[in-house]
Amino acid sequence: MSEMYTKHAETYDSVVRNNIYNACLERPSLQALLDNVQGLDIIDMGCGSGIYAGYFLEQSARSVTCLDLSSDMVSIVKRKFGDKVTAYVQDIAAGLPQEAANSADVIVCPLVLHYLDDLRVVFNDVHRVLKPGGYMVFSTHHPFADFECSASGNYFATERVQEEWNTVGTPVTVNFYRRSLTDICNAITAAGLVIARLTEGTVSEDAKAISEETYNHLKHNPNFLFVRCEKLRT
Ligand SMILES: C[S@@+](CC[C@H](N)C(=O)[O-])C[C@H]1O[C@@H](n2cnc3c(N)ncnc32)[C@H](O)[C@@H]1O
Repeated sequence: MSEMYTKHAETYDSVVRNNIYNACLERPSLQALLDNVQGLDIIDMGCGSGIYAGYFLEQSARSVTCLDLSSDMVSIVKRKFGDKVTAYVQDIAAGLPQEAANSADVIVCPLVLHYLDDLRVVFNDVHRVLKPGGYMVFSTHHPFADFECSASGNYFATERVQEEWNTVGTPVTVNFYRRSLTDICNAITAAGLVIARLTEGTVSEDAKAISEETYNHLKHNPNFLFVRCEKLRT
């Protein structure tokens, strides 16, 4: 796992509160796919420092369960929210083994799935854990955006990509997977989930005041993909 989410977890937490990519693009675009969550049981897969958990508590969710591979991130979540949330370390590549079948109304997974080499296990388990009529909303790197980093030049190949990101003010190496839109959609539908909405996000006007250059880039280029998938009531 990248040091971005371990050694730099505290800095990551303060940076993503107000930066362009998370605060002005990712969160508003993902939240636009959520219905009212008041009174609902929510699982946040790859919760990071708990920015979404805070949002769900503010929205009066009934329960918020936060999972992350990084124990540093889980510690931050526990420190911030104490017993208002359940938080534990979990590699979601193995799914949600500690969660009961038909127990969650909503599962969110913001900006995590590109760290997994195989999406089948996680989507199968999301289907198991969602209540009938429940839904998952996730965001991930846009397949087209990451294609610029492709070594093979083959859009349809799933590839491991290594980049240096300056998110926390110092270059940190990050490894992730680039995959086609077809592969993402197939993993969802093979699990029995139905894709209800798919968007490419919209950068908010607030971003202009932070960096006009980044705002203009995101206004004209896809960066993330946002998907809502549902477990049908049978
Ligand atoms: C870009 S951050 C997003 C954090 C949070 N979802 C948010 O939007 O603020 C990615 C998070 O995914 C976690 N992560 C990466 N691989 C994971 C895995 N296999 N299982 C669970 N969490 C993982 C990282 O530790 C990190 O906290």
